[in-house]
Amino acid sequence: MRIDILTLFPNMMNMFFEESILKRAQKKGLVEVHFHDLHDYSLTKYGSVDDYPYGGAAGMVMAVEPLANCIEGLQKERPYDDIIYTAPDGEILSQPMANQLSLAQNLMILCGHYKGVDERIREHFITREISIGDYVLTGGELATAVICDAIIRLVPGVIGDEQSALEDSFQDGLVAPPEYTRPPEFRGWKVPDVLLSGNHAKIEQWRMEQAIQRTKERRPGLLADLKASPHDNTKTKKNKQQ
Ligand code: ADE
Repeated sequence: MRIDILTLFPNMMNMFFEESILKRAQKKGLVEVHFHDLHDYSLTKYGSVDDYPYGGAAGMVMAVEPLANCIEGLQKERPYDDIIYTAPDGEILSQPMANQLSLAQNLMILCGHYKGVDERIREHFITREISIGDYVLTGGELATAVICDAIIRLVPGVIGDEQSALEDSFQDGLVAPPEYTRPPEFRGWKVPDVLLSGNHAKIEQWRMEQAIQRTKERRPGLLADLKASPHDNTKTKKNKQQ
């Protein structure tokens, strides 16, 4: 998988990808991440890529031409499965969405900033708009890091024990059951007997019951989603560049 990230702050982005699993994924050659500094596409001698919004509203808007030049330059080199824009009014990131995106060959992610981008970029290039929650961040860089983390860990081979990614919370529409490790008793706090029983069928049944119970308590909305649409609750705009 290749991910091209378009940002005004490539240095801020770098640090997320230079540690832990994201770093290993790149070292193993499973994922390539490329940063593109949008200042390099500026049409002014000052390197700015933003401008005042028409209509006199407060704040600055990322201008259409530098962004279009950057996006089209990349599109000439390879087809993209999705061109993502991070925005607070996008579709909320979910596990099914991360699963789907982890199957992509090439992704482009535009990190939003200021008041946002000129709407023509959204209309003519962006195929998917993603929010990481109903709150406003200073910019799309943190959101992009979160999205990339959620996707990259699902790419086959990135996590050593692949089963563990499949057993994550949300993978089956449920949150994960509780986990324990040694010792079996600490300060009188005991590991549930069933986990020490060696009876795998019973253990599986217990884990499922716990997952359902926890989901009811903590994320009742997930159970409703599961009933409404058991296999897919993602929506995507059609690829506009194809
Ligand atoms: N940019 C600003 N806030 C954001 C959010 N919540 N999700 C994605 N991108 C954002």
